[in-house]
Amino acid sequence: MQALSPVETYLQDFHQRQPGATTAAFAHLRARSSVADYASSYAALAAYVPQPTVPLTVLDLACGDGHLLKLLSDRQGPSLKLIGVDMSQGELDVARATLPGHVVLLKERAQELSVETGSIDCVLSHMAMMLMDDIEQVIKEVRRVLRPHGQFATVVGRGFLLGDVSEILLGVLLPILKEEGTWFRFGDARTRTIDGWTELLARDFENLQFEDLDVDWDPLPHELWDSLTETYDIDRLSAPSKTRLRERFIHALSDLQRSDGTIRTGWAIRLIRAQAKP
Ligand SMILES: C[S@@+](CC[C@H](N)C(=O)[O-])C[C@H]1O[C@@H](n2cnc3c(N)ncnc32)[C@H](O)[C@@H]1O
Repeated sequence: MQALSPVETYLQDFHQRQPGATTAAFAHLRARSSVADYASSYAALAAYVPQPTVPLTVLDLACGDGHLLKLLSDRQGPSLKLIGVDMSQGELDVARATLPGHVVLLKERAQELSVETGSIDCVLSHMAMMLMDDIEQVIKEVRRVLRPHGQFATVVGRGFLLGDVSEILLGVLLPILKEEGTWFRFGDARTRTIDGWTELLARDFENLQFEDLDVDWDPLPHELWDSLTETYDIDRLSAPSKTRLRERFIHALSDLQRSDGTIRTGWAIRLIRAQAKP
């Protein structure tokens, strides 16, 4: 593997310490858009893979602990071949322990895949492409491994938390991040907008579709805080800054708590689909 950037080194370290954090945050929550309601954001991607009547190869790019591959392998017929790629050994170890032996797992960067050109029918990716360095090279690799007319679908972040909590969090987090001066910018800003994705995919893909998904969640304040400690910006804070942030955040949340103590929030994400040009 090529030498990692500082962002990639941090991501590897995080996923070694916290494998399965994304699955813990998303797998149990429904994802809804104006046109559909999915059992989860992973299920939104799995729904994109047809029940195979002919042999079909699916690649999960940055597969993490393999949750999406598990959803696919649970429903597979004999003709579904599954491949997962991730650069973090901690996540791949969990995936290997959970997934059936026929699922191929590769420790690789998305920018330099060993997968054969034109060998994949469907590339999927859940909550990872907005983190990646050199996204143009990643998209070139996605197109290279896909067969002509092959399908590409990815779920990425669009903003962060849903509802009023979002502003409250930013209000307390941004000053602390500034004081610490350790703020990384993850990924390419174009992966955060529809215009950006349209630009990135225009050369090699057609039939682009965008579906904004809300992953609704009604946590108690401590449940929300626990989940936030497994997000990258907060994970990177020093222990004293985390303590300060927690105090200020939990205090500010009291205005939003409903009679049962919960808060209406969730994750704002986007599903993007496209087809490889022939
Ligand atoms: C937020 S996690 C998502 C994991 C999984 N897709 C899920 O949703 O459960 C991001 C994953 O992307 C992987 N990753 C980030 N950049 C990568 C790259 N350039 N190549 C391969 N994997 C990468 C990380 O190792 C991590 O497992």
